[in-house]
Amino acid sequence: MRKLAELNLNKKRCLVRVDFNVPLIDGDVQNDFRIRAALPTIRHCLQRGASVVLMSHLGRPKGKVVPELSLEPVASVLERLLGQVVQFSTDCISEEALAVSNNLGPGQVHLLENLRFHPGETDNDSSFSERLAKHGNIYINDAFGTAHRPHASNVGVLDFFRLSASGFLLEKERKYLSRAIQSPKHPFVVILGGAKVTGKIELIHNLLKQADKIIIGGAMAFTFLKVSGKKVGNSKVEEEKLSIAKKILSEADKNDVEIILPVDVVAAPELDEDSPWRVAKLDELEEDESGFDIGPETSMIFESHLDQAGTILWNGPLGVFEIPAFSTGTHSIAHAIINETEEGAVSIVGGGDTASAIESLELGMDGFTHISTGGGASLELLSGLELPAFKALDDHE
Ligand code: 3PG
Repeated sequence: MRKLAELNLNKKRCLVRVDFNVPLIDGDVQNDFRIRAALPTIRHCLQRGASVVLMSHLGRPKGKVVPELSLEPVASVLERLLGQVVQFSTDCISEEALAVSNNLGPGQVHLLENLRFHPGETDNDSSFSERLAKHGNIYINDAFGTAHRPHASNVGVLDFFRLSASGFLLEKERKYLSRAIQSPKHPFVVILGGAKVTGKIELIHNLLKQADKIIIGGAMAFTFLKVSGKKVGNSKVEEEKLSIAKKILSEADKNDVEIILPVDVVAAPELDEDSPWRVAKLDELEEDESGFDIGPETSMIFESHLDQAGTILWNGPLGVFEIPAFSTGTHSIAHAIINETEEGAVSIVGGGDTASAIESLELGMDGFTHISTGGGASLELLSGLELPAFKALDDHE
């Protein structure tokens, strides 16, 4: 994979695949984390005398024009962040859009409309890729969030370029996430949360090769607690994953990886803001109560395991952080990770829900060494899977 810094970009037209799949409400961008993450690459190209054509998907419009999923609001945010005009085209492969790209001067930026308004994007259709490729003479991929998708704009398009490179964000994500898995600074402590064991089985198997400790919170902990013979009340258990959870626990034991599970929870009869809640030890849970957050004793135990960590990898919130009564566990663990980072630990946060939790709890993104912009992509990379977009760049001569 060629690096962006190695390329001569003067007077070149860079076609840059970014991941501007950002949350929108009534046309307003709710969170510009992914847009800001792409700025170093965009600025680098502009400062080196190139023009920049940006392409992204937004949501899943399934090959049709869905006006609510237009990237136009992103163009305004980008204009503000870059402090310059961003031209916008309403169809990513129209003659008009190609003409705008062809007429760009050095230092100018053009954003294309949502790639997934055309079915050719997710179909990795070669003629769609060829058409997209006409927007530039150098291809740069900086869309880590989409790296696990074999699509036209991040895989097929490479057939139509001689020169390609990975953007700075892609390099950074690869560096931190791959290093965490292959050669972490020990002790390597992993914190896993989120709703389900499903989708994280490969991740856990891969982590068992390197981790010293795996802390499990969130609803997924109840499947492990049940298999360990603990009371879980009415908490959500994935019955069909009990045997896998059992296998994981015995594999951990064989590999000498310590698994740390909750001892108390914040329990309520319903997942509702107005539901009465209480802190309960697991063996005090009533049959009609469910745990929606880790309890204070669990937080203290989890934090003590983070002490002196060399690398901390965090994937998944520890409770239903969107409801204030169930957000304390996620909040306190995030603080503990920030403290350990100040003490010298490398802290890596898997994207998606965990990054959203950090943002919505206003914890400050700067307290962590690296927060991934990818949800599914970070999960797949950490699971040891090959990402199609990485392979396509690596194979490209
Ligand atoms: C994401 O938000 O994880 C990426 O943008 C990929 O989106 P997708 O899951 O719709 O392919």
